Amino acid sequence: MTGLPASTAQQRVTLDMAGYVQQHPQLKYVFFGGKGGVGKTVMAGAAALWAARSGRRTLLASTNPVHSLSGLLDQNVFGQHAPVTGVANLWAYEIDTRETIERSKREIRDKIQWFLKFAEISTKADEFVETATMNPAFEESAMFENMIDLMFKDEYDVYVFDTAPTANARRLLGMSKVYSLWVNKMVKSREEAQSLRQMLSFSKKKEQDPLMDYLMDFQQRMEHARALLTDEQKTAFFFVTLPEALPIAVISRFIDWFHEFGIPVGGVIVNMRIDESVVGADSAEFVRNRLAMQNEHMQTIWERFDGRVRAIVPLFDNEVRGVEMLGRLATAVFAQASG
Ligand SMILES: Nc1ncnc2c1ncn2[C@@H]1O[C@H](COP(=O)(O)OP(=O)(O)OP(=O)(O)O)[C@@H](O)[C@H]1O
Ligand SMILES: [Mg+2]
Repeated sequence: MTGLPASTAQQRVTLDMAGYVQQHPQLKYVFFGGKGGVGKTVMAGAAALWAARSGRRTLLASTNPVHSLSGLLDQNVFGQHAPVTGVANLWAYEIDTRETIERSKREIRDKIQWFLKFAEISTKADEFVETATMNPAFEESAMFENMIDLMFKDEYDVYVFDTAPTANARRLLGMSKVYSLWVNKMVKSREEAQSLRQMLSFSKKKEQDPLMDYLMDFQQRMEHARALLTDEQKTAFFFVTLPEALPIAVISRFIDWFHEFGIPVGGVIVNMRIDESVVGADSAEFVRNRLAMQNEHMQTIWERFDGRVRAIVPLFDNEVRGVEMLGRLATAVFAQASG
């Protein structure tokens, strides 16, 4: 299948993906969000391939508990930074969710045990650990920490994240703000408790306080994460939609939330657009109907996202799998005007 014809819709892409990247030469953290099944993983793959081919050391990472990078690339990239076969500068990594969660649980257990000892409370830590980790946000926060650890290590020029479905991703980011508030409060009350203890102990010696150290460190990490995630030069979230009602509604909400959090929105990618030029009066009725439906939803897309649509990607006749097919997709996303 060839690229889309220069339809009027096509001409409304005022700043395309290549243009956006050009305007953001420091772009380093790239995320893809959108409703389930719209093509987030394949877009992340295409963007990573594009970055790698432009000579930058690139990591394609998945924080999504439902793993798909190994399937996309036809090679095992689970739990390790694996060089992608046949592509220079590109590594892929599916974060081992289970391992991350277990490690976070162990860390929390240690902190709680230390705290109970410190406060001279003779209760087993297990109950507290259970309560802390049964929280549905716990998994997400463990994944969030894993993601920011990758960012902080700074071993690559570009990081492309295949984010978890919308609601989770939003909560992940919202959490960095909540974390900050919470930690500030905790640090303050720890400081008060500590100085009281020091006064009562008649000792001038400053007490070791690992919990306090942990909180301070945590707060710094969160602040650092917030600074990176809200940096308009370094970070961009792209939202993938289909020309269909539900995916459009999902990203509309998502974009509003992101504005609220001050997280840079790179733009919208419309995926699986049927090539009008190949649909004629003799095409199957369902194809003609589908095209008519897409045309209608394209109107909504222009109304809501005009000026922010970065690419309109055709529906290919095959699923996107393997490096060669990803290359075709990358061309459709990044080199639409010329390709
Ligand atoms: N433009 C396209 N043409 C044809 N097939 C496509 C296109 N874009 C994506 N696909 C196919 O659609 C399916 C869903 O894509 P993908 O897995 O990237 O979606 P996702 O948003 O990551 O889904 P999930 O929410 O489940 O993670 C895949 O089989 C992919 O190969
Ligand atoms: Mg996916």
